[in-house]
Amino acid sequence: MKTVNIGLIGFGTIGSGVAEYLLKNASELRGKTGFNFKLLKIAEKDRKKIPAKYRNLLVSGVEKVTNDSDIDVVIELIGGINPAKSYIISALKNKKHVITANKALLAEYGELLFKIAKEENVLLKFEASVGGGIPIISSLKNSLIANKIESILGIVNGTSNYILTIMEEECIPMERALAIARSKGYVEKNPRLDLEGIDSAHKLAILIKLAYGFTPKLSRIYREGISYISDLDIRYALESGYRIKLLAIAKKKSKDTIEMRVHPALLPITHMLSSVRGVFNAIYIKGNLVGEVVFYGQGAGKMPTTSAVIADMVELAQYVGNRSCIQRESFSLKSQMLGNIKDLSFRYYVRFMAVDKPGVLAKISGILGAYDIGIASVTQKERGLAKSVPIVMMTHEANEMSMKKALERIERLKVITDKPVYIRVET
Ligand code: HSE
Repeated sequence: MKTVNIGLIGFGTIGSGVAEYLLKNASELRGKTGFNFKLLKIAEKDRKKIPAKYRNLLVSGVEKVTNDSDIDVVIELIGGINPAKSYIISALKNKKHVITANKALLAEYGELLFKIAKEENVLLKFEASVGGGIPIISSLKNSLIANKIESILGIVNGTSNYILTIMEEECIPMERALAIARSKGYVEKNPRLDLEGIDSAHKLAILIKLAYGFTPKLSRIYREGISYISDLDIRYALESGYRIKLLAIAKKKSKDTIEMRVHPALLPITHMLSSVRGVFNAIYIKGNLVGEVVFYGQGAGKMPTTSAVIADMVELAQYVGNRSCIQRESFSLKSQMLGNIKDLSFRYYVRFMAVDKPGVLAKISGILGAYDIGIASVTQKERGLAKSVPIVMMTHEANEMSMKKALERIERLKVITDKPVYIRVET
């Protein structure tokens, strides 16, 4: 029976899950796969993290894992760009297959890493990088291979989905929801990754690579986060039959043009992704043959992510000892990215805060009309004790650039008390 020797870099949440799994399930996995998996070494700079039962595996210095001639597969689970990048490069150059969950690194340096893997005849696997335990990478790579992917719509950041969910369920503002998410340990060390849509953009870049064959520059993905979403907008959207979700979107616009964007959007409550609550993730894919498919599950967490890492490990086992294995990832559609959201058209939810006096609505709708923006519905909410009233509109499809210009003009009106909020509608 072939033995596959594993070296682990990083003993954080996922690393400890992988070690625990290998310790407890080695014989079951042997029975299921016909391979013997052996955790040989662990590199972790914080020695205190390592329980006594793994101490004999602990090495000082990552190179003792990446240079070890007995190790077949290196699992990198420290996250972040540096030093993870140099560890992976060193492992690949030492002809080791590598598994990573590192979405930021793949989004920024995926092309370089895949190139090195190819040159060295080894494989780089990354199932855990998007959607945690959801088998989305292997599905795009294998099960959906016959399809031309028409669109991808994903809720791929559990933290922002959790925040939006509890803002709705508990009628609380963003700051309170963020504090709760923090107290549960959901928020990344750098909260901008979650709140500003950066993490979603990293994951979208990886999905685009699989679906369309090129890794987009992150700066070419249009990106907005959830920071500007208020509980008021969540409530008003719901009253109109929509939920606000942070979506990662890729759509094929023409033969070689892909629309790529991450931003909050109103989704009809009947849309499948609308019912994705809390930290759960879901990815909706439309293929030309398969039609619509939806993948749903836990997008983070110790054991769901371990599940994905182990799947990669088992797949790699068959290549251990092979002198030649080709990284099947680089088909290219010569796709072009659509760089400018201003060229696109959407339906919009818009909220104005205005002084409650006659003629205000006429002024607003006059400016919208001048920019060819049609109003589908309008509601003025009760004033209560506040000095201004919310006016909520749903528009017909309008050009983004026109919408921006119209809102700039409306904001300058004396009767408008706050910056208007506008959110795109996705269907
Ligand atoms: N911060 C990420 C999320 C972790 O909230 O989804 C999993 O990639």
